[in-house]
Amino acid sequence: MAEFALPKNSVIKKNGHVHKAEAGAEDVKTFKVYRYDPDSGENPRYDTFEIDMAECGPMVLDALIKMKSEQDSSLTFRRSCREGICGSCSMNINGRNGLACTTAIEDCKGDVRITPLPHMDVVKDLVPDFTHFYAQYSSIKPWLQTVTPAPAGKERLQSPEDREKLDGLYECILCACCSTSCPSYWWNADKFLGPAILLQAYRWLADSRDEMTGERLDELEDPFRLYRCHTIMNCANVCPKGLNPAKAIAEIKKMEVERVL
Ligand code: SF4
Ligand code: SF4
Ligand code: FES
Repeated sequence: MAEFALPKNSVIKKNGHVHKAEAGAEDVKTFKVYRYDPDSGENPRYDTFEIDMAECGPMVLDALIKMKSEQDSSLTFRRSCREGICGSCSMNINGRNGLACTTAIEDCKGDVRITPLPHMDVVKDLVPDFTHFYAQYSSIKPWLQTVTPAPAGKERLQSPEDREKLDGLYECILCACCSTSCPSYWWNADKFLGPAILLQAYRWLADSRDEMTGERLDELEDPFRLYRCHTIMNCANVCPKGLNPAKAIAEIKKMEVERVL
């Protein structure tokens, strides 16, 4: 489980604002939402939003959109597809990382506490800074690399069996729920690539068309970049797409061993 951990720059000292539900609402759900604006110079706080569930869609993202539309337009969060495809709405909901758009409010027990992904710098409210995460993604060269010329007038073909080896990898939406639930990544994010980026690295190692396997393994062979994974398994428990980054990391370690045997 990705247990709750406050974002890096969080000290909550002041009581937040309370946004009450409209009078007469009978089915009210309470949300405690992390608020932080670095430009304000103020400490982070939790604001309380009461939502009339009779007037709200079923997902946590529906509630956030309702809060922003009707109660506080300054509330800031990312979202795009609202169906678990873009990875934008990753956040921590009642102590567990997940996607707001695929997390049902009825599955959230009691008051719903919403914070940004743990252990990231915060740009504003529920928006973490992904700059470092994307730089790490870029470092693994996440594209097909070849040396032989492509067959004339044809695509580089792959057998159905080889294509199947990418199942469980290509579905990753880079939401970072896994990396930000990984204690090794919390403490060593400057050097450890973390489960999301390592799963992506394995996606290219596993691709039968890629011709840079040796170079890719050389890049990963490092006490921090790869070997900071201690198989704690938070990553696999939390992935909203049901993927298993820990298994991908184990496969990379196996490839590293097998190439020197
Ligand atoms: S299995 Fe490895 S990558 Fe996944 S949470 Fe544990 S230490 Fe992190
Ligand atoms: S492996 Fe899962 S949790 Fe991690 S970034 Fe990809 S989709 Fe998100
Ligand atoms: S809005 Fe795209 S994954 Fe949630």
